Amino acid sequence: MLLRGQTAIVYGGSGAIGGAAAAAFAREGAKVFLVGRTLQKLEAGAQEIVRQGGVAKVAVLDVLDERAAEHHAQAVARETGGIDIALNAVGFPHIQGTPLAELSLADFMLPVESYAKAVFITAKAASRFMAQKGSGVVMNISTPGSRLPGIGYLGYGAACAVTEGMTRLLAAELAPRGIRVVCLQPHAIPEALTKGSHSRQVFQPAADRAGMTVEEMLQGAAEGTLLKRLPTLGEVADVAAFMASDRARAMTGAVVNMTCGALVD
Ligand SMILES: NC(=O)c1ccc[n+]([C@@H]2O[C@H](COP(=O)([O-])OP(=O)(O)OC[C@H]3O[C@@H](n4cnc5c(N)ncnc54)[C@H](OP(=O)(O)O)[C@@H]3O)[C@@H](O)[C@H]2O)c1
Repeated sequence: MLLRGQTAIVYGGSGAIGGAAAAAFAREGAKVFLVGRTLQKLEAGAQEIVRQGGVAKVAVLDVLDERAAEHHAQAVARETGGIDIALNAVGFPHIQGTPLAELSLADFMLPVESYAKAVFITAKAASRFMAQKGSGVVMNISTPGSRLPGIGYLGYGAACAVTEGMTRLLAAELAPRGIRVVCLQPHAIPEALTKGSHSRQVFQPAADRAGMTVEEMLQGAAEGTLLKRLPTLGEVADVAAFMASDRARAMTGAVVNMTCGALVD
């Protein structure tokens, strides 16, 4: 097991990516603490992890509430003796598919501000308790959005650039405390649509403008990759577990390209 005896907080743990990653962390031996705003969704995920022999607990909180996130991290650390892994897999619905001339400043800023705050708040809350142990892994999620030239995702593309930039800067800041900071960069995941991801709402206006379904739009994206497909939730979860583990101990400040070759580094 890659994560035996470790404690992981998964912010957005009831989401498509957060849920899959939490299950993978639990399979690898970590005790997982799922965070989100909707108790029912969190409990469904936790029950499935427990049914498969894992350990999972849930907490309802808004990650944009800094004080609530700090109290939660403190409670987890007190209960388990420390935090080893903090995955920020929170997703915020936002406007996509609107060209610059029609985009309001507020709609542009919404993803930039909310994703930046989530990275800041979750990293700050969890890393405090990692620092006490002298080890830990902070993990964020972005997409290729800041590096794929395209129309209609200016705000979210900027949010991805912010998440990746903050990952690099936090890696430098937290390295002296033994903490690694990494970011996974998956391309769009068709399977997430079937798990209730906010991504359907985000992609719908662009699909409408193009006169196709979201699934057809993602099929087009798949054809633009070297591998002619998009990543699966299982693949993202496997990489999250690997990156959280000691096997990736030489990696920090890294943005892990999971775009199936839509981008080459
Ligand atoms: N889906 C994709 O194709 C894809 C691909 C690459 C990267 N990503 C990125 O990966 C991340 C997760 O995406 P996803 O598809 O897994 O999203 P998702 O299924 O919609 O899950 C989002 C999670 O965040 C939680 N959440 C939202 N706002 C919150 C808040 N203020 N406080 C606490 N929890 C909150 C949601 O639960 P509640 O609403 O109950 O709080 C849910 O657990 C996003 O950053 C997304 O951009 C997604």
